[in-house]
Amino acid sequence: MTQHLADRTQPTGDPTRTVAGSQPDWWRHAVIYQVYPRSFADGNGDGMGDLPGVRRRLPYLAGLGVDAVWLSPFYASPQADAGYDVADYRAIDPMFGDLHDADALIRDAHDLGLRIIVDLVPNHSSDQHEWFQRALRQGPGSPLRDRYHFRPGKGPNGELPPNDWESIFGGPAWTRTANPDGTPGEWYLHLFAPQQPDLNWDNQAVRDEFRSLLRFWLDMGVDGFRIDVAHGLVKAAGLPDMGAAGQLKLLGTDVLPFFDQDGVHEIYRSWRKILDEYPHQRIGVAEAWTPNEGRTALYVRPDELHQAFNFHYLNTPWNAAALRRVIDTSLDSMRPVGAPTTWVLSNHDVVRHLTRLGGGLDRARAASLLMLALPGSAYIYQGEELGLPEVTDLPDEARQDPAFCRRGAGGDASSDGQEGLRDGCRVPIPWTAQGASFGFGDGGSWLPQPANWGKLSVEEQTGDPSSTLELYRAALAVRRTHPALGAGDAVEWLPAPDGVLAFRRRAADGSAMVCAVNTTDMAVDVAGVLTPAGRLLLASGRYPGGGVLPADTTVWWAE
Ligand code: NOJ
Repeated sequence: MTQHLADRTQPTGDPTRTVAGSQPDWWRHAVIYQVYPRSFADGNGDGMGDLPGVRRRLPYLAGLGVDAVWLSPFYASPQADAGYDVADYRAIDPMFGDLHDADALIRDAHDLGLRIIVDLVPNHSSDQHEWFQRALRQGPGSPLRDRYHFRPGKGPNGELPPNDWESIFGGPAWTRTANPDGTPGEWYLHLFAPQQPDLNWDNQAVRDEFRSLLRFWLDMGVDGFRIDVAHGLVKAAGLPDMGAAGQLKLLGTDVLPFFDQDGVHEIYRSWRKILDEYPHQRIGVAEAWTPNEGRTALYVRPDELHQAFNFHYLNTPWNAAALRRVIDTSLDSMRPVGAPTTWVLSNHDVVRHLTRLGGGLDRARAASLLMLALPGSAYIYQGEELGLPEVTDLPDEARQDPAFCRRGAGGDASSDGQEGLRDGCRVPIPWTAQGASFGFGDGGSWLPQPANWGKLSVEEQTGDPSSTLELYRAALAVRRTHPALGAGDAVEWLPAPDGVLAFRRRAADGSAMVCAVNTTDMAVDVAGVLTPAGRLLLASGRYPGGGVLPADTTVWWAE
């Protein structure tokens, strides 16, 4: 079984264990790199990434130039949803290591100047969590059942679910239990897989437990939390039917009785007080799918969380007018609450942006350079700095995403392409040109890597100035040194031809930079309208200078 650090050594809670507080408001400009522990680096050669693997690769991340690392869940879990089904929030799953490995990882990261953000999963636990197992055993009426959403079924014999809510992964959001004597019993709510019962946030024990969990990980030295399904904790009173909605989507924008209820904000106010008790600005980041940017901004009011993912930006197609609109709306919504806007193109739940934006590597690189020029904080998903595409031809038997496995359970079996399927962005990343799993580990890899991925490895790309990896390294280096990049809440749009975005960012010291993006698939002459006078800083593709922007290209100039 998993071990608790407290069994062997005491967590110190020592504030000096976080990176020095040399950078006030670090989260307003931070570039945060998402590590998906299963697929980043395998330290023991069992084909599955782990914490010792991540620890060994920390110098790579420091060298890349990111400020912080967000780790997707590594807690004890039966892995019904790749670790987003937590059985013990205070223990590391043996497949990833143990608490000593987490402790060593946090220490090493801090020594390298990297902050660590861990994933917290408060909307649901695993069905193997001790609370849920005890609630099942104790039967209807037990106070332990009130920590989840147990309800009698409808119909003469309770054979119908309590309401019409649907699971994000397909099929009804309710599963019927058996009573301790084996007869059919109550139903329980799970907005995701049946192995992920939703916790009841009206229950005081649930609230107390998560406040204690925050302290546990803050005492371990973490610098923040990415809060899974932050918009889902509170359900509308009486659990009213949702009405017809069709298959729900990950990162969706529908108005629903179980998402984005006003009651969630009280929870985050109480969490902010805990975060603020610790030195060096520990942060909370909301994974909140909301109907619009204005609703997202509510999660980052001054007494709530620090950042929220900008999924409205992620969901925007590669179109200059649409991008300009979402950039403006994002900045306008965050300005009144004083929070930084965040920018994200890829993560472990969506088709990698190289494939999703439909324009290959040139477009992916242009999109990345645009994102990194925008005011606020940016998120990079492991492997995007290598220009990895989505793997679209995984054999069915290799896939582990519950969204794929449940398509026959009422989910969208007809979904074409990769939309809604998540294994293709989770394939272990290549480190070396050769080797059984391209340096991921000494053994194989839990999802098969494409045979040609050696060419995309860190080893192959390092030192090649035309590589995507060196583009990211250069962009992050410029971002660190140019005062007009990073934190901010505005861009100054410049006149530009159709299909081209151009804006200036000004720094307090009077310096400025200009970013221009040609989103079209043809070269565009911008000489007549856009006349950046300055020095070329960086281009996402072959830009010889002058007034013609090549297709799918972003250019940065210093003014
Ligand atoms: C969002 C996570 O990013 C996703 O991977 C997970 O399946 C759901 N939340 C449920 O926890």
